[in-house]
Amino acid sequence: MSAKKFTVSSFLTAKNNSEKITMLTAYDYSTAKLLDQAGVDSLLVGDSLGMVMLGYESTLQVTVDDIVHHCRAVSRGTQRALVVADMPFLSYHISVEESVRNAGRMIQEGGAGAVKLEGGEEVIDKVKAIIRAQIPVMGHLGLTPQSVNMLGGYKVQGKNEAQARKLLADAKLLEEAGTFAIVLECVPEKLAKLVSEQLSIPTIGIGAGKYCDGQVLVIQDVFGIYADIKPKFVKQYAQVGEMMQQGCRQYIEEVKAMAFPAGEHSFPMDEEVLSKLY
Ligand code: KIV
Repeated sequence: MSAKKFTVSSFLTAKNNSEKITMLTAYDYSTAKLLDQAGVDSLLVGDSLGMVMLGYESTLQVTVDDIVHHCRAVSRGTQRALVVADMPFLSYHISVEESVRNAGRMIQEGGAGAVKLEGGEEVIDKVKAIIRAQIPVMGHLGLTPQSVNMLGGYKVQGKNEAQARKLLADAKLLEEAGTFAIVLECVPEKLAKLVSEQLSIPTIGIGAGKYCDGQVLVIQDVFGIYADIKPKFVKQYAQVGEMMQQGCRQYIEEVKAMAFPAGEHSFPMDEEVLSKLY
């Protein structure tokens, strides 16, 4: 029997039961399957895929088609976890209609169970319209990477009073609008604690300390596969990148020395048939 599906209402139940929610990013079928079988509650098809999978310098180049494509693969590999699709830059900034249509593609074509979008008051009309279309929305406040050019870099957010007040007000607006959870990225621990205490919906932290109701990390960071940037808040749980390089060096050596493929990796042929070919 398969494990009970983790849904948007499971997010709320977990918060009410003081159980921490676990979320990781995933961008492909095989990884999604491994993480889902390991028991993670939710998989985020993040626009971070632009950097860690496609090699862009930021998330701004990622398109709706990119997310839909990767989301399909992740959905196929997932049985229990809630798949959340990230709405990329410009997919929810132009009009309410376009935002709902793009969010709908994540569900209809990508197989996601929810979407995530960045921002508070500035995008609240889009958030409400997407929820009215029966699509669950996860918010994202604090360091919102799609605003990197306005923020002047990837910096901790909410350190001064004005920023902290805005973050708290935005979190409450998102909750009132009906979002089922909010990601808090790069926010001081005590501020994230305050926000988490003041909301009835769960907060999911990334660089926001231990008092959030759940945590999310980028899978390439967790397993040491992406080394271009190493944020302070990342903990590496396995050195998969190093293992891959070591395996690759051994493969190169064995191919060059004709140690691979060995007999057990090759297909035999009937000698009599073979002799007729010479
Ligand atoms: O795109 C992403 O991976 C994200 C997480 C950092 C929360 O938005």
